[in-house]
Amino acid sequence: MASPSTSSLLLLLLLFLAYSGARAVPWDRWERTIRMPTEKGELVDDDAAAADDKKLGTRWAVLVAGSSGFGNYRHQADICHAYQLLKKGGLKDENIVVFMYDDIAGNVLNPRPGIIINHPQGQNVYVGVPKDYTGEQVTAQNLYAVLLGNKTAVTGGSGKVVDSKPNDRIFVYYSDHGGPGVLGMPNLPFVYAMDFIEVLKKKHAAKGYKEMVIYVEACESGSIFEGVMPKDLNIYVTTASNAEESSFGTYCPGMQPPPPPDYMTCLGDLYSVAWMEDSETHNLKRETIDQQYETVKKRTASPNDLNAGSHVMEYGNSSIKAERLYLYQGFDPASVNLPPYNGGLEMKTMETINQRDADIFFLWQMYRKLEEGTNERAEVLEEIRETIAHRAHLDGSIRMIGFLLFGPENVSNVIDHVRASGLPLVDDWKCLKSMVRVLEEHCGSLTQYGMKHMRAIANICNKGVSEASMREASMAACNGRRRYGGVWHPSNKGYSA
Ligand SMILES: *[C@@H]1O[C@H](CO)[C@@H](O)[C@H](O)[C@H]1NC(C)=O
Ligand SMILES: *[C@@H]1O[C@H](CO)[C@@H](O)[C@H](O)[C@H]1NC(C)=O
Ligand SMILES: *[C@@H]1O[C@H](CO)[C@@H](O)[C@H](O)[C@H]1NC(C)=O
Repeated sequence: MASPSTSSLLLLLLLFLAYSGARAVPWDRWERTIRMPTEKGELVDDDAAAADDKKLGTRWAVLVAGSSGFGNYRHQADICHAYQLLKKGGLKDENIVVFMYDDIAGNVLNPRPGIIINHPQGQNVYVGVPKDYTGEQVTAQNLYAVLLGNKTAVTGGSGKVVDSKPNDRIFVYYSDHGGPGVLGMPNLPFVYAMDFIEVLKKKHAAKGYKEMVIYVEACESGSIFEGVMPKDLNIYVTTASNAEESSFGTYCPGMQPPPPPDYMTCLGDLYSVAWMEDSETHNLKRETIDQQYETVKKRTASPNDLNAGSHVMEYGNSSIKAERLYLYQGFDPASVNLPPYNGGLEMKTMETINQRDADIFFLWQMYRKLEEGTNERAEVLEEIRETIAHRAHLDGSIRMIGFLLFGPENVSNVIDHVRASGLPLVDDWKCLKSMVRVLEEHCGSLTQYGMKHMRAIANICNKGVSEASMREASMAACNGRRRYGGVWHPSNKGYSA
């Protein structure tokens, strides 16, 4: 007796399923087109963005890690992370040019071989990163050639250049050590502010883009643009620090938040992770460049009052910052429901280390991990000693040269003088370069630490000191100190100018 009722129930069920199945498609369509009134703004934005997309040119990106060595892990990690973000945003590999030394993933000190992370719980950001310019190809000359889209001026590498058209947008992101007027490169010479600005002017004159956005993380990164960045190049720039302060590494061993236990090195830099973590948590078709700037500025400024943050600065044409971020960084469809901006409310505790102390900090971590009594441990200790001795030598030499040139009562006034904001570091950039060469010839390589003395050298130029007097003072201060003739002599790695 049960079977007829069971079969009729089954029939009903089948009918119901057929009905709901047939209805599934229109129901979906209904869902997609009907919006709550509060979502109207989003709809308009999306439409405007889609219309914009049609007339948009190509998005280009140039990503530069200016350092090498495992102690500088964080700079290459930053750059790889930026690549992943842009890639998710839909930029094509053919339009992203990557400069990285590429000595991190395969480094014997890397606790996760073949993997690079930029956050304590971060995913591998090394996957698929184009090896455009690696090792000895990471040079200032190649960077300029790539930006200018000049293939014949490139040496080695993939030969990929920014072959951009007048309607295209370019995003440039650089992370490394810097100093007043200079950005580091793993192969010397450094990037000098004036050379970089000249490249931008040439690119503009060649109508090589519609607009450009540049993000720079480095110590004294403001000095690259302060007083020299024109407002009429359609370029908007933000920097991690002002012209006279350090920038900061973060996710460092023993700090909050720490990297996984096996890491002896910092995973990221404060300004860099601030912009990337902001981009990843917002809808970039709705967030403006200005909103990102404000968030990053808050996160990078001494976050927990440890005197361990810097002032994010902006230069160039600030009208551009009203634009939406997706025009430069692309748009990840998965981010469509993310908010446009949350006022930078989530202030996390981020302990940091001054970029300039990060190398000694790294050596110290390494020393502590090595077994007592081993040769390796003794070697690391010797390296720490050598590094500190060379720092002291550079600091002392600069002071001595200032003393010889300006006398005891004026040495500090001249050497430590910081020009008013809006003024360039130096009036004569050629003088700066030739004075750097004279100094290095007699006193040894400036190194990543000694970049901080660029201001003193610039001030010597601003005072009108002749090259002959500089040579005389440098010889008096440094010659005869043979110890610095060896590993620190510029004949090893070249001059930084
Ligand atoms: C490209 O670089 C080469 C070599 O440095 C130079 O001779 C040439 O003038 C450059 N071309 C342009 C268009 O600037
Ligand atoms: C700044 O950019 C805006 C928007 O692209 C443009 O209208 C304005 O002319 C630019 N300003 C200068 C000084 O070039
Ligand atoms: C120190 O600077 C002052 C003011 O510029 C100048 O008058 C004085 O001669 C300088 N002293 C020496 C020893 O050069």
